Amino acid sequence: MRLDIISIFPEYFAPLDVSLIGKARERGTLDARVHQLRDWAHDVHKTVDDTPYGGGPGMVMKPEVWGEAIDAVIEGGSPTGVTGGGSPRLIVPTPSGRPFTQELAQELAAEPWLLFACGRYEGIDSRVMAEYGTRLRVDEISIGDYVLAGGEVATLVMVEAIGRLLPGVLGNAHSAVDDSFAPGAMRNLVEGPVFTKPPVWRGHEVPPVLLSGHHGKVARWRRDEALRRTVANRPELAAALDPETLDKHDRRLLEELSFRFQPEDMAN
Ligand code: ADE
Repeated sequence: MRLDIISIFPEYFAPLDVSLIGKARERGTLDARVHQLRDWAHDVHKTVDDTPYGGGPGMVMKPEVWGEAIDAVIEGGSPTGVTGGGSPRLIVPTPSGRPFTQELAQELAAEPWLLFACGRYEGIDSRVMAEYGTRLRVDEISIGDYVLAGGEVATLVMVEAIGRLLPGVLGNAHSAVDDSFAPGAMRNLVEGPVFTKPPVWRGHEVPPVLLSGHHGKVARWRRDEALRRTVANRPELAAALDPETLDKHDRRLLEELSFRFQPEDMAN
C-alpha cells in the first residue's frame, strides 16, 4: 500500500518508524511518505491559515495551499501496479466526519493508495473536499466523539488500524481474526480478559478452565466473558446483537446478567 500524509507537523509521524508499521515500511509492504504542507505556501511566513468567513473563533486552512499540495502529491506518481487510473482515496480526519470503525479500516486496507490530509485549527476550507470530490473518493472521518488539536493523531490511529490488516504485517496470521469488532462468530462483542504465566500472581489465579486443555470449554468461557464485558462496558453493542446469532447458553447468561432485549434498546 502507498500512503501519503500531508501535515504542518511531519514530526508527529515518527512513530511510523516503530514496531509493526516500521517493519512493514522496511519490508516495503507499506510505502509511507510524509509531506510538509508549508512547502507549498509561497509567502515568507509560509502561511497556511486565515480568518473564517462569517466570523467566529479560530482560523481556517487556506484552499490554495492544500490544492497545490494535494495536486503535487498525486502528480508525484501513482504506486506501481495500481490499476484504474492510479489516484489515491483522500482521507480527511475531522470530528465532523463519519465514524472510523473496524469495518472501515478493513475497507481502507484493501485500497492501493491512501492520502491523509491533516487539518489543524478549525479545519480545511470546505471547497478543498468539494474540489477533490469531483475526481477522487473523499472520506471525512472521525475517530471518536472528542475534539483533538488536529488530524495528525487521528491519522496515526487510522494508519495503525489499517496497517496491521495489510497482508504479512501481523506476525500471527490469525491475530486480526479474533479482534473485537472483526467479522465472525464474536462479531460485535468486545474481547474478554487474557492471561499468561505464571498461573498465580500476587494471589490472583488464572481461571482454571484456561489450564484445562479443553478447547470447547475454553471457547465457551471466552464467549461468556466477551458477553459479560460487552454488557458491562458497551451496552449499546449488546442491545444491537442479533438474537438469531445467540445460542441457548448465551441467552441464559444474558438473563443472569439481567440483560433484556428491550424494543427501545434495539439499534435500528
Ligand atoms: N481532528 C480533531 N478531532 C478529531 C477526531 N475526533 N477525529 C478525527 N479528526 C479529528
